[in-house]
This record gives sequence, structure tokens and C-alpha cells, in this order.
Amino acid sequence: MNFNEIKAMDYKYQMNTYAKYDAALLSGNNAVITGEDGREYIDFSSGIGVVSIGFGNDEWAHAVGAQAKQLQHTSNLYYNQPSAMFSKELCEKSGFSKVFLCNSGAEANECAIKLARKYSFDKYGRGRDKIISLYNSFHGRTMAALTATGQEEFHQFFFPFNQGFDYMQANDADSLNDILNADDICAVIIELIQGEGGVCPLDTQYVKTLFNICKKRDILLIVDEVQTGAGRTGYLYLSEYYGIEPNILTSAKGLGNGLPIGACLCDEKLKDVFTPGTHGTTFGANPVVCAGARVVLSHIDESLLKDVREKGEYIRSKLYGIDEVKSVRGMGLMIGIELKTMTSKDAAQAAFKNGLLILTAKSLLRMLPPLTISYEEIDTGLSILKQSLK
Ligand SMILES: Cc1ncc(COP(=O)(O)O)c(C=O)c1O
Repeated sequence: MNFNEIKAMDYKYQMNTYAKYDAALLSGNNAVITGEDGREYIDFSSGIGVVSIGFGNDEWAHAVGAQAKQLQHTSNLYYNQPSAMFSKELCEKSGFSKVFLCNSGAEANECAIKLARKYSFDKYGRGRDKIISLYNSFHGRTMAALTATGQEEFHQFFFPFNQGFDYMQANDADSLNDILNADDICAVIIELIQGEGGVCPLDTQYVKTLFNICKKRDILLIVDEVQTGAGRTGYLYLSEYYGIEPNILTSAKGLGNGLPIGACLCDEKLKDVFTPGTHGTTFGANPVVCAGARVVLSHIDESLLKDVREKGEYIRSKLYGIDEVKSVRGMGLMIGIELKTMTSKDAAQAAFKNGLLILTAKSLLRMLPPLTISYEEIDTGLSILKQSLK
């Protein structure tokens, strides 16, 4: 099939939820993608922060292929070794006590919301069920995660939204005591860097104050690390850098290197809140996904994390040499680029035409390349970007 045939078929049979670029992607090698027409692209997007250890990673592909051949699925009525091993490794590496495995970031956040509400119900009874999130946040597209998402533009069409949610302004430490004084709040959910909101980092002092108030009032702190986690910012989880220990941490995207995974991690006090039948999902803890995720996790060691921090610095310094770049923010390989005159959409479209895949986040360009991107791939990508921003 040629590109136009693929496009026409996609358009006819898939619901029209995405604004797609004019390319069908065929194969990949680390941070280089080849289209159906043989065109090569440097990939600064990694499928929106997903392909963490690169396209065509042999070790990952072998683990996934071997497990697919041996046993591709078990229901959660039985045990399987890859998911038991992965859970142990993820908990030990992250310092959390237990994990619930699911299939996406939104689903991990749904789990976090249910876990927080059940903890509060078990301990305090009905009426202490409110979840507070931040304006400008993004937590996913399912109804509860969408309700928690504090952006008006996502809150259209889909009324009525779920009860028991409220919003507060990010980085306003002075208002925290008053807001969190209400006795109906069971949890606060935050992203440490608001990714979809425009790569906006939270202030460290604000996050520490929030953490301390939550701890004092037994309000659970949920940190959504779906985008910032799994090594993306140069730390396994960014909570470590911020010096906080959330009660619940959600992870997804880069943990699977391309296979669907979500993880809701919890601390010691929450580890026995769920009991059989209170939560579940058919595909969660899938052995093929977990076999691949074990490889991902084994790659996220101190040396890779140091690399991510250094490559991030390198990219930032080079970006400031491009005339059209006004400012750069983010951490590690999660980078937002504010432009002087071009819109982010026009800039991303121009980059695409020149052979670079790059994301947008509101008015910013956003880079989430594979964590394994080479300096050569970075240089090629940046020179395409420079040429596109004229
Ligand atoms: C911070 C954050 N949370 C949740 C989600 C939703 O994840 P998913 O698309 O896997 O449901 C995203 C996706 O972009 C995200 O960035």
C-alpha cells in the first residue's frame, strides 16, 4: 500500500480524534524513523515520550518476542513470572511498597483516585472523598482523569463531569493551608512538570510545602509521573529530585518502550487498601509487556540517568544558539522551547517537512526524544530544527 491508500483507509475507518502529519511510519532505529516512502526522520518525540530505550532495541525486542511465543497472556486469576519480577524490580528501584499494573497513564491515575478514596473511606467513612488537582494539569482522557485535568479546553462537550474534584493554582504556597483545611479532601494530585500544559515545572519550595501539609493532615499526595517518570528527566522519578515521598506515584509511557503499560505505585500505608474484587483490569500485568518493561528498567541505571541529564544540558545550550528560540525550560530530556515569532504548530510542521519529528505543548515546541538518542542524532535533529525556524 502506498501512503495515500493508507491515509484514505485510516480516514474512512478510524474515528477522527487526531490531527496527523502526512507520513506513515514503517521502521525505526534508535532515534531515526523511516517512513513508508523511504524518507528518514530524526525523532525528537519518541511517540510522546514512550520509546525510552530507542526503536529496534534488540534486547527489548528479543525479550518481548520470546515471551510472546512462550505465553502471551494470562488472566489475573493466575500468577506469571515476568509480572512478579517486574513488580519486585520496580518497587525496589523506586522505593514504593506495592504496584498495580494496568495499561495506560489515564488508567494508572484512575487507580490512584480509587485507591485514595478507598483509603479515606476505610479510615474516615463517607464524605472525605475530594481530589484536588492543579489548574493547567493533564491527567488523561478517561472521565475521572479528565475531570482531574485542570484545563478548560478539555472540559467541553463531555458533561456531566465526575463529582468530588476541585482545582487550585500551582505554585501558590500561601494559599495551601486554607485550601487544604477542608475536611472533605482525601488527596491532591500533581505533575511536577506540567507536560501537556506547556512544560511548566513546579517550584521546589511549593512542592515541599504541599508535601508537608498533606502529610500532617493525612491527605494523600499523588504524583503523576506519567510523562516525567521512567528516567525522562534524568531521575528514575522526578519526586526524588524534588525531595518528596508521595503516597502514590503513577507511571506509564516510557516504562513500556512502546507496549501499553501503566503503573500505580503506593507506599507502605496504602499497600493493603485494595482487596480482591475492588480493582482490576483484563490486560494489566501482561507477561509480554512486563518482559519488555523489565529490560527498560534494567537500562535505567545511574549511567543512563547521568547521560540524560548531560544530553539535556547539551541540547539546551545549543537551542540558545538558535535565533528564533526565546527561552527553554524542562529537565533532562523533557524540554519545552518558547519561540519568538513562529507558532509551535507552524514550527513543528516546518520541522516535519525537513525531516524532524517534534511535539508541541500549547505555544511551545516540546522535545521528548528516546533517552538513548546519540549526540550525532541530536546534532542532526538540531540542525534541521535551526533550518526550520527561519
Ligand atoms: C502527566 C500525564 N498524565 C496522564 C497522561 C495520560 O496517559 P495515557 O495517554 O497513557 O492515558 C498523560 C499523557 O500525555 C500525561 O502526560
